[in-house]
Amino acid sequence: MRSILVTGGAGFIGANFVQYWFTQHPQDNILVLDALTYAGNLASLDPVKDHPNFTFVHGNILDTNLIEELLRHHKVDTLIHFAAESHVDRSITGPDAFLETNIMGTHSLLKAAKKVWLDENLLNGKEHRFHHVSTDEVYGTLSLTDPAFTEDTAYAPNSPYAASKASSDHLVRAYNETYGLKTTISNCSNNYGPYHFPEKLIPLVITNILHDKPLPIYGDGKQIRDWLYVEDHARGIELVLNKGRVGENYNIGGHNEWQNIDIVKLVCKLMDECFAKGEALPADFPQAKSAIAGNSASLIEYVKDRLGHDRRYAIDAAKTRDELGYEPQESFETGIRKTVEWYLNNEVWWLAVMDGSYRDWISEQYK
Ligand code: NAD
Ligand code: DAU
Repeated sequence: MRSILVTGGAGFIGANFVQYWFTQHPQDNILVLDALTYAGNLASLDPVKDHPNFTFVHGNILDTNLIEELLRHHKVDTLIHFAAESHVDRSITGPDAFLETNIMGTHSLLKAAKKVWLDENLLNGKEHRFHHVSTDEVYGTLSLTDPAFTEDTAYAPNSPYAASKASSDHLVRAYNETYGLKTTISNCSNNYGPYHFPEKLIPLVITNILHDKPLPIYGDGKQIRDWLYVEDHARGIELVLNKGRVGENYNIGGHNEWQNIDIVKLVCKLMDECFAKGEALPADFPQAKSAIAGNSASLIEYVKDRLGHDRRYAIDAAKTRDELGYEPQESFETGIRKTVEWYLNNEVWWLAVMDGSYRDWISEQYK
């Protein structure tokens, strides 16, 4: 049985991870620590909030004393670190928060883990693990003909977000090499699925169609991302925790490269199909005029490119497959349909995170 501290568990991937973990390991204890920034949403943890082994703590990973107390009090043996500022566009307009949370925040967790697990030997020699959730963006960008990123690809981050994640990866590695902290790192490609904040491409396109708003395509729209269903990311992390070698990095990806413009056109087609089939949809979303007319793609609008926009990401996950037996289970065809349907059925969730009413509610709860 594990006692797990999940940082950033109210965010997109963290919340999906916690939900997945309880389906597989209901006997484990999970303690979620989250600062509930604009990207964190307690409603994403609704499906597990009544689980007897679930605890939520509202707090910041920069608060090293709090982390130490949580590790001691809950006898945590496994720390899975998702908390981060995660949106590339925000890192371009305001990098400071990214350096604070992603670099200093990760260091705060490492210091606390070293103190409690190594210096104080709180677990009496029982195994511990610090798992750091990282990204393929640390490897930089690929041309169309380059081979996919492997774990040996040199780090070459291009955005402030990617640079902050690369720095945090280096710190995790250093704590393993220098102090013997038992760490692992996973570098994953673009996730999609339920509870994805609607500033990211796929949920942005779905929710903009529902409001009949333009679908912004940066530059020529031919940038390529490698999309993975979020539960397959959770499965990959589970394998790294259970079978991964301490001190190693593992790539997790979907063998699923798409140009942005093709993803957007696919989502438009799926939305048109749903509106054509679902009798209630036009009544539920009367603003979605283009989808009702079966022409969501008319909303596509090419806009100014993202600064320093990486052209292509692709993950070679051969090491994770060969060492750990990892294979994604969700096909893109089924995963993207499920995702579109989830947004159509969960308007309350995405409206609340978008219009700020959720933020007001949170400030009331934590006054
Ligand atoms: P997200 O932005 O949806 O969620 C981040 C969560 O962290 C939020 O709940 C937020 O409240 C919390 N948080 C932020 N700052 C905090 C702080 N200082 N203290 C405590 N909590 C804080 O992010 P996500 O998309 O779920 O990404 C999770 C992790 O996975 C990140 O580390 C990201 O770099 C990595 N990752 C994301 C993707 C992707 O496609 N989204 C792919 C690969 C790796
Ligand atoms: O690769 C993993 C990374 O994937 C994670 O580390 C990041 O946390 C996560 O946010 C994601 O980064 P991207 O920048 O790839 O995701 P985003 O959804 O912001 O954009 C996907 C692609 O779509 C990217 O090439 C930019 C483009 N885009 C994005 C938006 C929001 C558009 O063309 N228009 C848009 O409006």
